[in-house]
Amino acid sequence: MVGGGAREHAICEAVKKSRDVELFSVMHNRNPGILKLAKKAKIAKETEIDKVVEFALENGIDLAIIGPEAPLEAGLTDALIERGIKVSSPTRNAARIETSKEWMRKLMEKYRIPGIVKYGVFDEIEDARDFIDLLNGEVAVKPIGLTGGKGVRVYGDHFSSAEEAVRYAKEVIEKKIGGFPKVLIEEKMIGEEFTLQAFSDGKNIYPMPAVQDHKRLLPGDKGPNTGGMGSYSCEDGLLPFLKKSDYEEGCFILQKVIEALNKEGCPFIGTIYGQFMLTAEGVKVIEINSRFGDPEAMNVLPLLKSDFMEICLSMAEGNLSEKKIDFDEKATVCKYVVPEGYGTKSMENVPIEVNEKEISKAGALLYYASVNLKNGKVYTTKSRSLAIVGIGENVYEAERICEKGLEYVRGDHIFIRHDIGTRELIERKVKRMKTLRG
Ligand code: AMP
Ligand code: GLY
Repeated sequence: MVGGGAREHAICEAVKKSRDVELFSVMHNRNPGILKLAKKAKIAKETEIDKVVEFALENGIDLAIIGPEAPLEAGLTDALIERGIKVSSPTRNAARIETSKEWMRKLMEKYRIPGIVKYGVFDEIEDARDFIDLLNGEVAVKPIGLTGGKGVRVYGDHFSSAEEAVRYAKEVIEKKIGGFPKVLIEEKMIGEEFTLQAFSDGKNIYPMPAVQDHKRLLPGDKGPNTGGMGSYSCEDGLLPFLKKSDYEEGCFILQKVIEALNKEGCPFIGTIYGQFMLTAEGVKVIEINSRFGDPEAMNVLPLLKSDFMEICLSMAEGNLSEKKIDFDEKATVCKYVVPEGYGTKSMENVPIEVNEKEISKAGALLYYASVNLKNGKVYTTKSRSLAIVGIGENVYEAERICEKGLEYVRGDHIFIRHDIGTRELIERKVKRMKTLRG
């Protein structure tokens, strides 16, 4: 297992649940949850390909699972496969579906995949300005490459005029935010977001329950974008504003993306992640990721009834088709505990008290994220600290269990979006969607 976040902790748990496996971990931090599950852990940056490969060879690894996107972009999958190790994650070329938003949009265009929006990629600010003006400033301004979910700015949320959009577009080009001297401008979509994750063996997708993440830092979906503050899913695999036909449209789009990647000569192995916007005109693609979502992995993996290792092996071998993939018909709510100042300037290296026993007694699940275990104590880093998940018969029961678990996480400098999964917030989203759809 490569990666040391809560998503990776959840993946490790799924791995250990499956069958008698020995788990080896490489991560940049000392994640207490993963340390407990792993037979051996190496603390190293996940993008240090040589070190990860060496560790894998030393320990006779049969199958590698890569959690985060950065090592995929760095070519870790390719390097492991070259040394004869199976990997249930995509190659560098297949991961371009996430690592280059330009390539993703061009692929959708080339294969006429539904759900595309008006877009343009510019390296000259004057051309970007013309396009922004054409769309009356109602755009999303996006870096091309990876920014940890924090590089996108949207009209009405982060700026309110064409002039401001141009200013940020210029900054993205000049400072090469996201790694390229270019900027992607998209028409602004209006609606509700949902996530659809699916297993892929390179040919077909096997979808998981839909999830709604909350990217904005503050209650009521306000403030800057983050890696995700929390998420929920429902017992029927849909969402309160999402109909079966919308879910199926999302699946159709993901299947088309998988087929397109195949035709491009880079079949996609692993979990593919669609971030969609349900708009008045139907389902549109916001982004496609080449891995589990974080936090969305924590909503689906605890519900997985099938053998996760078998799924991973089948994906790596390209023959998932015959396997059956089953999820518990339950609802989940996941809330992240983050350091105070997260999103602007995090309080790093402050202790968090986590009462694991009481969290478990409350019936909640605990997934450690970017924290470090030092002398038996848990300390924050700049990123998200840990996630608590409640599982219930419906989302409100799951939310209550999640909150009960959160009572046993204490710290003077932590922050939680308590509104995630509450009736008030969910009903507001349902109402908004109803109004939009008329
Ligand atoms: P991304 O990093 O592409 O997922 O974008 C981060 C967030 O920005 C998304 O979760 C959306 O909330 C928002 N966003 C991205 N693209 C658009 C768009 N074209 N229209 C409206 N909102 C968007
Ligand atoms: N939850 C957003 C992401 O994993 O990209």
